[in-house]
Amino acid sequence: MNESQIDGAIITFFSTSSAVGKTLIGINMASELAREGYSVCLADFDLQFGDVKNYLQLNTDYSITTLCDTMKTNSSHPLTPLLATYTYNNISFQVIPAPQKLEEAYTLEPDSIIDVIKKLRSQYDYIIIDTTSMFSVLNLALLDISTIVTFLGIVDFIPTIKNMKIGNDTLNTLNYDANKIRLVLNRSDAKTRIDLQDVVRILGDNFYHILPNDFESARQSIATGIPLVLSDQKSDLTRALQSLVSKYTNKGYMSTYKDKSSSWISKFFG
Ligand SMILES: Nc1ncnc2c1ncn2[C@@H]1O[C@H](COP(=O)(O)OP(=O)(O)OP(=O)(O)O)[C@@H](O)[C@H]1O
Ligand SMILES: [Mg+2]
Repeated sequence: MNESQIDGAIITFFSTSSAVGKTLIGINMASELAREGYSVCLADFDLQFGDVKNYLQLNTDYSITTLCDTMKTNSSHPLTPLLATYTYNNISFQVIPAPQKLEEAYTLEPDSIIDVIKKLRSQYDYIIIDTTSMFSVLNLALLDISTIVTFLGIVDFIPTIKNMKIGNDTLNTLNYDANKIRLVLNRSDAKTRIDLQDVVRILGDNFYHILPNDFESARQSIATGIPLVLSDQKSDLTRALQSLVSKYTNKGYMSTYKDKSSSWISKFFG
């Protein structure tokens, strides 16, 4: 791989409530991109409660801590040998697992994590980032360097919708290119008494993509460690995931939203 020629796209999964599908969808996006032949690195930056390693049933001691420590001692050390690899049926991608121990999350510096991503971006077509449901310093810095932010929501309870509204408004105040933030609805047909049109009206934005609820497929995927898009059984959820990926791989579309003008902090306070 010629490292200097790649200017990889960074796709971050973010939400303002937990359990909306960031990890499941992030894993499937990484898998589908790898299946299509792209070089992919999937980063688990849910530093305290990361699930990627469990969902993929990876057995590794490497984590983001290993990468940050290595970069600090020798910034020219190659990072790829320190990444975990997920392989299924000859399809593979690299993974940065979350720290082994919860307390490591306190000592990892956001700047070091960003340095790792900046370095890896020159080596992979796509970096997929899984995050947590908060506007933390790390998450805001990740949103800044992302090419696309998938802002995921579900329609279940009123507080979830309230948080989605706050999240959407906050993302809008960051003044990113309009195409950078993609509002995606997951578990769309889950039983709820809340009308989707009301949610759209409250948010003031339409959903860019909608994924169906499919508890059994999701459960089975996690139980087997095989991402939905790599499994032989194709469900509506699988097709909706693949359709989301195809919208994202439209390169012409992608080039218009590389917003690197200023940082989140200046957008908030500048
Ligand atoms: N479309 C779907 N249909 C049915 N179940 C789903 C769907 N998407 C995700 N799930 C299930 O919902 C649960 C939460 O998903 P996931 O862990 O990906 O959410 P998350 O946003 O990463 O949560 P957290 O904020 O806790 O990290 C999992 O059990 C997953 O299998
Ligand atoms: Mg998660």
